This record gives sequence, C-alpha cells and structure tokens, in this order.
Amino acid sequence: MLCSRKMILLAVVSITIYYSTMKIFKDLFVHKCPTPILLNCGLGHDVKSFNRMFDENPYDNYNSSRKTNILILATPRSGSSFVGQLFNQHSDVFYLFEPLYHVQTTLIPHLSPSRYAVERRVMLGASRDLLRSLYNCDLYFLESYIKPQPANHTTDKLFRRGASKALCSMPVCDAFSPSDSNIEERDCVRKCGSLNFIFASESCQKKHHVAIKTVRIPEVNDLKALIEDPRLNLKVIQVVRDPRGILSSRIETFLDTYHLWRIWRDKGRKPPKLDFIKLKTMCDDFLNSVSTGLSQLPWLRGRYMLVRYEDLARNPLQKTKEVYTFLGLSMEKSVVDWIQNNTRGNNDMSAKLKYGMMRDSPANAESWRLKLSYEMVNYTQTVCKHILDELGYKAVNSPEELKNMSLSLTKHKTFITFL
Ligand SMILES: *[C@@H]1O[C@H](CO)[C@@H](O)[C@H](O)[C@H]1NC(C)=O
Ligand SMILES: *[C@@H]1O[C@H](CO)[C@@H](O)[C@H](O)[C@H]1NC(C)=O
Ligand SMILES: *[C@@H]1O[C@H](CO)[C@@H](O)[C@H](O)[C@H]1NC(C)=O
Ligand SMILES: *[C@@H]1O[C@H](CO)[C@@H](O)[C@H](O)[C@H]1NC(C)=O
Ligand SMILES: *[C@@H]1O[C@H](CO)[C@@H](O)[C@H](O)[C@H]1NC(C)=O
Repeated sequence: MLCSRKMILLAVVSITIYYSTMKIFKDLFVHKCPTPILLNCGLGHDVKSFNRMFDENPYDNYNSSRKTNILILATPRSGSSFVGQLFNQHSDVFYLFEPLYHVQTTLIPHLSPSRYAVERRVMLGASRDLLRSLYNCDLYFLESYIKPQPANHTTDKLFRRGASKALCSMPVCDAFSPSDSNIEERDCVRKCGSLNFIFASESCQKKHHVAIKTVRIPEVNDLKALIEDPRLNLKVIQVVRDPRGILSSRIETFLDTYHLWRIWRDKGRKPPKLDFIKLKTMCDDFLNSVSTGLSQLPWLRGRYMLVRYEDLARNPLQKTKEVYTFLGLSMEKSVVDWIQNNTRGNNDMSAKLKYGMMRDSPANAESWRLKLSYEMVNYTQTVCKHILDELGYKAVNSPEELKNMSLSLTKHKTFITFL
C-alpha cells in the first residue's frame, strides 16, 4: 500500500517535471524562434515545430558532410578542463565548455537526494536533446535555459563563455586579432561584449568538428542513443582519474558540499555525520561507465576511448596524439604548442607557472597524496575498491607508502580501444 502510494507520488513528480520541460521547449518554439536563416525553425512559430521536438526525427537538417563530433565525458575535478583545452586549441574544432550547466540550473536548481532518481532522468532527457542541437550547431537551443532569457539572441550570461576560443574570436567577437593564440578567459569576457547566438552558430557551422566537455552525464550508457545515431558520428573520450585525487581536489574546490571532509582533513578526525554516499555514487558511476565502455558492446565500436588523467600528465604529447588518432583528427601545431606551453615539457617558467596555478594542472596529478591523511585515503580506497582495481590505481597500506612520492600509485595499464 505504502509502496504504491510512493509510486503514484513519483509519477506525479515525474509528470510535473516533464511538463515543465515541455513548457521550456514550448517557450522556445512559440516565442523564441529566431530568424528564418536558422534551419530548425523552417516550419514557423507554431505547434507543428513544437511537436517535432518530440518526434524521433530531429535530424531533418543534419549536415552529413560534417565529420566527427566529440564528447569529453568526465566527473568534476578529474582534469577534464585540461583535456578540453586539447580540443579548444584546434582551429577546426568548435569547443563548448559545460553547456549542460544551464540545463541543470534551470531544471533542477536544488538537487535533492530524495528525488535524485527522477531528477537525474529529467536532466538526462533534456541534456540529450540539447546535445543533439549543439552538435548540429543550433546553439540558440541553449537560450531557453539561460536566465534572464536572452533578448535578440544576445546574452552575457553564458557559463564560462571565455573558456571557448571560438566564442572569443571572429565572427563572434572581433576584439582580438586572428593570430592571437593566447586569449585569456577574462579578457574575452571583458572585451567581447555580449554573446550573440546567431554569430556563435555561424562560427560553429564553419568548423568541421564540435567538441563538448561535460561533467553532467553520469555514465556512457546514458549516451547510447546519441552514440548509436550515425548522423551524429559521436565519439566519446572518457577522462578518469584516481578517485582519491578527485576527492582531494573537490575538498579544496567545493567548500559547501565537502565541508565535512575538510573538517576531517584539517582536524584529523572523521566527523560522525560524514557519510560515504557522494563518494560511493561517484565511484559507482565510474565503475558502470568504465565497465560498459570497455565491454566491447557493438554500439561502442570505434566510439569510446578511456583516458587516465595521470597518463596524460605523465606523457601529454604522446597521449594527446593517441586521442587525436582515435578521433581521426590531425594534430595541429597550435595543439602541440599549447601542450608545450602548459605542461612540464616546457622550460618557460612564466608560462608553466601560469597554468601550474590553475586548478587542472597535470603537474599536480598525484599531489593529493601530500594533502589527504592516511585514514581518509584508507576510507576512500575501501569505498572505491572496485574502480581502483579496474583502472589500475594502487591502494596503499601504510602512511609511509602514501607519502613516498618515489613510488607511483598509477600502475602501467593499457586500455584496449575497441575498434
Ligand atoms: C555542411 O558543412 C560543410 C562543412 O562544414 C559546409 O561547407 C556546407 O556548406 C554545409 N552545408 C549545409 C547545407 O549547411
Ligand atoms: C534587436 O536587434 C535589432 C537589430 O539589430 C535592433 O533593431 C533592436 O533594437 C534590438 N532589440 C532589442 C530589444 O535589443
Ligand atoms: C606559447 O608561449 C609563447 C611564449 O610565451 C607564446 O608566444 C605563444 O603564443 C604560446 N602559444 C600557445 C599556443 O599558447
Ligand atoms: C581501513 O578501512 C577499513 C574499512 O573502513 C577499516 O576496517 C580499517 O581498520 C582501516 N585501516 C586503518 C589502518 O585505518
Ligand atoms: C620509498 O620507496 C622506495 C621504492 O620502493 C624505497 O626504495 C625507499 O626506501 C622509500 N623511502 C622511504 C622513505 O620509505
């Protein structure tokens, strides 16, 4: 009895959220449809185009001469910004940094653990639809998720706009010269003015590839429908990192959600209220995703590559080449230059320091060992044991072993890419 009442409640919540999603799309189509040059609105501002959203065929206008689309699948603090830069630097790649941030903040501004499953599903459905549009360069689909709603397809509220080189250069922004290879994120925000989605879509159409980085998709299984669509030609690069390193980085970054962990780290005693749910969810998502990714299921053939952040940190140029080869992209000089400027391989201290102080510097791949106590590491290893084994990260058995940096905890391991 209780159970069925819960089910009904769940259904009501689902439907409510479903309709609020529909409302957003309806707003988009009925009120926000941009000028006719944008293909998807060809049918006009009516219910027909609204309904098309929910048909199984949103690809009518897909430009099949486009090549590979790329999704960088990661979890917060696993080094994905660094990996994103490897694509952001390529002249034929249109790179977007965390566009799904806006989906999350609009649909589920307050993540609630009790509704986690429902919210996750709603978020995923909307995210997949948006990703499809973005890979098709229909960037204005983002508009309905941005607050305040952009007027005239123009906004200054796009999350981390300056992290995307294409959104800081022509035809989107003319503040920098085309030869300027080193546009700072804050200079872009300061000098480029508001972002115009029509120009952004144009810029996207001029490039062959779209690369999107996201930490808001839990597992590769959630992308199956997109991966299976031949018109998208989507390839997924999953970036993984030692969960102990992720934890340490999150403790420093997410002051609210990880404050109990910080108390443990700073006071040396585990607060009684600290639970392992978040940690376990992260490791379970990892394990599900990686197990699927490496399982050689037919739909993943040629579509999934696993990259350990530590391997990238150890040998950035070589690893990047492997990734580019898998994607069938040529490794441009601009990418090589960027790697050399921003990793240990370079002698120019000033450049190195600049990125070295940023949160995703690969030079810091194992520095968590000096920050976490042995008790915290032992706890994490216990909760995340399976994924540590699967990914080739070595558990430590003593404080001495933890702090002895001449002993790497990243075992050599080859992950065969299923081709
Ligand atoms: C398709 O994309 C190619 C390369 O990006 C471009 O040259 C061509 O004009 C596009 N075609 C259409 C119909 O948009
Ligand atoms: C929108 O853009 C058009 C053309 O650039 C301009 O004439 C109009 O004033 C703009 N409207 C608003 C509300 O900014
Ligand atoms: C690399 O660093 C040099 C010297 O600081 C700079 O001139 C160049 O623009 C940088 N290139 C990239 C791609 O970051
Ligand atoms: C390590 O963690 C496990 C499980 O939480 C616990 O049983 C064990 O006592 C811990 N070992 C040390 C040395 O703290
Ligand atoms: C650190 O590990 C290395 C390699 O196992 C070992 O030779 C060395 O004695 C260790 N150092 C300390 C201080 O334990």
